[in-house]
Amino acid sequence: MIVLVVGGGGREHAIIKKLKENENIEAIYALPGNGGIAADADCMNIGATDIDGIVEFVKGHPVDFAVVAPDDPLAMGCVDRLEALGIKCFGPVKDAAIIEASKVFAKDLMRKYNIPTAQYETFTEMDKALAYLDEAPIPTVVKADGLALGKGVIIAETREDAKAAVRSMMEEKKFGDSGSRIVIEEFLTGPEVSVLSFTDGKTIVPMVSSQDHKRALDGDQGLNTGGMGTVAPNPYYTPEVAERCMKEIFLPTMEAMNAEGRTFKGCLYFGLMITEDGPKVIEYNCRFGDPETQVVLPLLESDLYTIMEAVADERLGEVEVKFADKYSCCVVMASGG
Ligand code: AMP
Ligand code: GLY
Repeated sequence: MIVLVVGGGGREHAIIKKLKENENIEAIYALPGNGGIAADADCMNIGATDIDGIVEFVKGHPVDFAVVAPDDPLAMGCVDRLEALGIKCFGPVKDAAIIEASKVFAKDLMRKYNIPTAQYETFTEMDKALAYLDEAPIPTVVKADGLALGKGVIIAETREDAKAAVRSMMEEKKFGDSGSRIVIEEFLTGPEVSVLSFTDGKTIVPMVSSQDHKRALDGDQGLNTGGMGTVAPNPYYTPEVAERCMKEIFLPTMEAMNAEGRTFKGCLYFGLMITEDGPKVIEYNCRFGDPETQVVLPLLESDLYTIMEAVADERLGEVEVKFADKYSCCVVMASGG
């Protein structure tokens, strides 16, 4: 069995290390991988968003299975392209990856299917957004519609800050095209929980919960980031919360995507906030979280490849997904800035 993993971060390394536990896997190619991954896989100098390059590589190599890990290639339809070549893949097709790629899509899906989330309005015209902010409750949250590397979210403590955020997205195009549509939503409070899940559109199996620590610098003194470290399991994710999430969020989301003709297969990530009114969705991601994966997968006792193949074949319900009753943590070291 020869496996290809698209991506090149700590998340992809965690996936590769776990895949290697399967004795039937003879080789793993990482596109592009990184210096650390090179110890565990053959790294190829093909970028994760170079979809044509990935397709060419697959045509010239005997790849049996592909794992597409990052958001960009998923949103660009990398899985669609590989499946068209007859390669089995773990990861959603483009039509399903929209659950992360468009915040407006995600919010409208939750509204339509009664999935608990923050109240919101969407805007394509700056004047209307600015007028709305004259009345909106403060603090408020302004989000660019598209992928913005986790940076297109601004929590505004004052009306002026909120308006400045709208202008930066819609006028100055700080986040590029992803700011041509924006969401302005209710500010929620409570502990955050990340729950990654395996789903094949028929079954959804949550993995062990985790907590992402998002602020840079010691003592949470810095700006929000994509994640500076993680722990698993998340201490706020009690069995009662988990049961509510399954009933009110996880199953309804899987079924909503099916009903929209956008069956999601892969890892569906639920970014949750445990509010006084119960768990609510802050965001969906169409992929494994980074750095959540680095704490979640080491606790997986079952074989990752077996699960991924079962997801691709839509028989997830037939395989075991078992996590150790242990703890793990991840610390990110990053260069300044
Ligand atoms: P997102 O990219 O949507 O996950 O947002 C990034 C971070 O902003 C989240 O992890 C939260 O910490 C925060 N955030 C997003 N939406 C809200 C909200 N409605 N209320 C409070 N905090 C939020
Ligand atoms: N750690 C947050 C994310 O992967 O989006």
